[in-house]
Amino acid sequence: LYDNPLMLYIVITEPYFNFTSIQESMNEILFEEYQFHAALRINAGSLSAHRYFYENSSELCCIVVDSGFSFTHITPYCRGKKMKDGICRINVGGKLLTNHLKEIISYRQLHVMDETYVINQVKEDVCYVSQDFYADMAMAQLKGEENTLMRDYVLPDFSSIKKGYCKPREEMNFAGKYKPGEQILRLANERFAVPEMLFHPSDIGIQEMGIPEALVNSIHNMPEEMQPHFFKNIVLTGGNALFPGFRERVYKEVRSLAPTDFDVSVVLPANPICYPWEGGKLLSENPDFDEMVVTRDDYEENGHLICEEKFDI
Ligand SMILES: *[C@@H]1O[C@H](CO)[C@@H](O)[C@H](O)[C@H]1NC(C)=O
Ligand SMILES: *[C@@H]1O[C@H](CO)[C@@H](O)[C@H](O)[C@H]1NC(C)=O
Repeated sequence: LYDNPLMLYIVITEPYFNFTSIQESMNEILFEEYQFHAALRINAGSLSAHRYFYENSSELCCIVVDSGFSFTHITPYCRGKKMKDGICRINVGGKLLTNHLKEIISYRQLHVMDETYVINQVKEDVCYVSQDFYADMAMAQLKGEENTLMRDYVLPDFSSIKKGYCKPREEMNFAGKYKPGEQILRLANERFAVPEMLFHPSDIGIQEMGIPEALVNSIHNMPEEMQPHFFKNIVLTGGNALFPGFRERVYKEVRSLAPTDFDVSVVLPANPICYPWEGGKLLSENPDFDEMVVTRDDYEENGHLICEEKFDI
């Protein structure tokens, strides 16, 4: 059926626990406005789990961390089925990190509150997850060349400098000023204090668990005999997984919180942003795909009810 190039079908993701009214509007948009012949609405985590089991076919369970722009979700899957009791949402994502970075830069050096796009790029270029917060804090306080984690970031002016970048260390001027014309941000503890919010949201007054704690908490809500399987199949997805040091830190903290006789393994896919997309592509090539979608004919006959029944969302 889906080999037919004239069949227009779509796989589209949506967040967990969305409002019914939004889900129903989505059905209307897909079938009535865009006239797709068939559609599958699904959570990104389910696609990631599908992708993971494709490669690790002997594993029974996995737990997917999806740390994206608006929030972070943690979802356990067993044999491809999502375990609703273990789903956890943390209201911390890339947007909050970028906003926080904007605020501290505006407070300390330069007003950038209207420069979300530029500061998001600064975040992606210089921020990392610390493996030892207090040691890095001490380092960030050193003056001059001794401070090995200090970076000077050249902001774009959108004429000669199209994109911001970090000055190479040998071109950094530790003592004085740079030539006029270049606008520079000097960053030290901002580099790791910002992503630290993924691990300690309470530092900025958000009363939620950090990712490792939420992971362990989620696993503890699962039946006991399954728990070891989750600890050894933790999968990191979403843009925040790209911060250098993210995987190592998650591993280290989960390892220290998990029972000592369980193996802990944390997988960072080559492309954590496209991982769900890869899962969706695999799913669409699966022989069972026909059974998973709702066709426009189905929808026209049965309305939203058929979507609610078929999509496990
Ligand atoms: C519901 O879904 C829409 C579209 O995917 C999204 O923009 C919105 O943030 C979601 N709301 C919640 C509460 O998850
Ligand atoms: C699952 O697959 C990934 C990628 O091939 C691999 O790194 C990881 O060790 C596998 N997990 C287990 C538990 O075998």
